[in-house]
Amino acid sequence: MGSSQPVDPVHTPPPAPPARDHFGTLAVHAGAPHDAVTGAVIEPISLSTTFQQTGLGKPVGEYEYSRSSNPNRDNFEKAIASLEHAKYALAFSSGSATTAIVLQSLAQGSHVVSVSDVYGGTHRYFTQVAHAHNVKVTFTSAIEDDISDLIRPETKLIWIESPSNPTLKLVDIRRVVTQAHEHGILVVVDNTFLSPYIQNPINHGADIVVHSVTKYINGHSDVVMGAAAFNRDDLRKKLAFLQNAIGAVPSAFDCWLAHRGVKTLHLRAERASTNAQAIAEHLEQSEYVVKGGVNYPGLDSHPHRAVAIKQHLNGLGGGMLSFRIQGGHAAAERFCQTTRIFTLAESLGGIESLVEVPSAMTHAGIPQDQRESIGVYDDLIRVSCGIEDVRDLLVDVQNALEIAVVGSKVGNGVGNSH
Ligand SMILES: Cc1ncc(COP(=O)(O)O)c(C=O)c1O
Repeated sequence: MGSSQPVDPVHTPPPAPPARDHFGTLAVHAGAPHDAVTGAVIEPISLSTTFQQTGLGKPVGEYEYSRSSNPNRDNFEKAIASLEHAKYALAFSSGSATTAIVLQSLAQGSHVVSVSDVYGGTHRYFTQVAHAHNVKVTFTSAIEDDISDLIRPETKLIWIESPSNPTLKLVDIRRVVTQAHEHGILVVVDNTFLSPYIQNPINHGADIVVHSVTKYINGHSDVVMGAAAFNRDDLRKKLAFLQNAIGAVPSAFDCWLAHRGVKTLHLRAERASTNAQAIAEHLEQSEYVVKGGVNYPGLDSHPHRAVAIKQHLNGLGGGMLSFRIQGGHAAAERFCQTTRIFTLAESLGGIESLVEVPSAMTHAGIPQDQRESIGVYDDLIRVSCGIEDVRDLLVDVQNALEIAVVGSKVGNGVGNSH
């Protein structure tokens, strides 16, 4: 046979599937089709709550009623599934609604094991709401070590937050998953603090990843939303049923905004993390900071640095850190009132840098002895690094430290310079 033989199209092997695109490409393009009718490059916001049917139960397209599904939510969910390396994602009206729905998917009488320093709202749901349908939660501060002792026949779920809030402790997800899966128990990871750019819990064996989209994923402090991502078809069936039945769904507009945020997540998360690294290193050297009082997983001194290297993209530490200032609670308060660029406010993960004092704000509800046992002292300041120029952030931190600590010593009452 000569080389001039025509190629038989029927027997030509199909081209190899395209390699998986990298994060930045997926962030921009996943779930972002051009509009088929107008060619609009950016998807329109589909505000209609209902969709025409040509006959009974025969909708024109795939949509009927916006609580059940709508184009903007579908596209956002596709983007999150893609970035979390999951088959499916579902969006909810807040991170807290996401937590509630995951817990409600458990049968009555189920038992959950959770890390101790979960987000305060998660702790509140676990301790004050879950028991309404007879779900009990046991907390542990050393989940990798004592999970086997805590598992009971009715244990159905393990809940991990890594890094923890506000002390930035890490959990080795794979170690927990290995033990949990031996007993057929699902592992959920709240990945809010790192975002899918820095950590993909599903790669480490987790079954469900949850997010407060309000934070890094939306990233602009203007949407409250949540999401869960997972691979299993049975989970998709159960959680999508609850999404519709409970109706804690985000609006089409919020989905559109959050999806716009996703498109720059890689740029924002990378910058927030390099800013946080520089600030943490600066704080670690500062005479105005309690020795050994900087909590940041990007520092070699962090007790779980090896986990960060294994679990985080390029060992990045993320955009969150906390530190203990010299001079006690008064100095901590003064620091937060003195910064010029960092705004004194709760929340995190936005483009703008924020500071807060957990003992008086986000964690004020926890009794002092319990707070201090997990490292939340009165002088602890939590910092959410934004994407501003790091040179300005460092100057701001240094000025505020000097005023807060030296100012408090001389008692000159230097106040708010906003
Ligand atoms: C780690 C974490 N998970 C969940 C939540 C709850 O999210 P939302 O405020 O969107 O309900 C938060 C909120 O701060 C959080 O920090």
